Amino acid sequence: MNDTQLIGKTCFLTGAGTGLARAMALGLSDAGATVIVADIDEAGLDETVTMAKGRPGNLHKYVLDVRDQAQCEAAVANTIRDHGSLDVLVNCAGLGPVYMRRNFVADPLPFWEADTEKWWTMIAVNLRGPFLLSRAAAPHMIARKWGRIVNITTSFSTMIRAGNMPYGQTKAALEAGSASWAGDLAGTGVTVNVLIPGGAADTGMIPLEAMPDRSKLVPPQAMAAPIRFLASTASDGVTGQRFVAQHFDPAHPLSAPGCAPVAWPDLAAGASRGLGEDKR
Ligand SMILES: NC(=O)c1ccc[n+]([C@@H]2O[C@H](COP(=O)([O-])OP(=O)(O)OC[C@H]3O[C@@H](n4cnc5c(N)ncnc54)[C@H](O)[C@@H]3O)[C@@H](O)[C@H]2O)c1
Repeated sequence: MNDTQLIGKTCFLTGAGTGLARAMALGLSDAGATVIVADIDEAGLDETVTMAKGRPGNLHKYVLDVRDQAQCEAAVANTIRDHGSLDVLVNCAGLGPVYMRRNFVADPLPFWEADTEKWWTMIAVNLRGPFLLSRAAAPHMIARKWGRIVNITTSFSTMIRAGNMPYGQTKAALEAGSASWAGDLAGTGVTVNVLIPGGAADTGMIPLEAMPDRSKLVPPQAMAAPIRFLASTASDGVTGQRFVAQHFDPAHPLSAPGCAPVAWPDLAAGASRGLGEDKR
């Protein structure tokens, strides 16, 4: 089997009714994977399935609200029942700053004006959803001694930008969680990595009025090559890494600036020294 050929692999992507996850789903399908496209937006999923027609892999839609624990657990169980395994989980569903305030670029939202219910909803989609799905899928992957969890976070500058809460906070927490989960899963054959576009991407998350010149945005298709690498056996043993799609080089997949240790590498080194040993 060619390392980039994904025949026999079952990949489950959230947020695949549009945007980055749709582009990744089509890229995985091109490599022959069985792809489960999940989203709360069924009409979007239907479009994704239509776009995949004629490609080598099989695409199946799965309507899912990642905020709901029972739905997440059922999604993992049903995927394993219907397709034999769940090999690759891509946590991509997300709500962006536009959810908190439509014109967030021209009129940034200070935290004291943030709607508290929307704050919780964003935490639930961007942070709890990836936890619920990963929690449900990990035991199955560990038992098979092979699996992939790929979390879509964002650029570090976006995590701490003013007027960007709680979006940046959810992504910083998922970034930290990715480093921590990679440690939990060390030696199991199951890897955890982060993938980001490497700049604002041309999706609905960046509204037209915020960025009228779309040529400056990262094309969603840039996500296809790194996710194919991560889903393949070529990335066996690669864990705790952060991939930047815009800089990813398929010929040198582990080279900077397309790949670097996940999260805050200095801190990760401290964490590996054990509790109480990091004095910074
Ligand atoms: N677009 C960018 O510039 C950019 C940059 C860095 C990171 N990201 C991240 O990439 C991911 C995908 O972003 P995108 O640009 O494709 O955004 P998008 O808005 O185009 O797509 C997000 C998808 O998530 C789905 N979703 C929302 N709530 C859901 C829920 N409760 N359950 C299931 N699905 C739900 C939406 O229906 C939508 O299809 C997000 O996590 C985002 O934070 C995006």
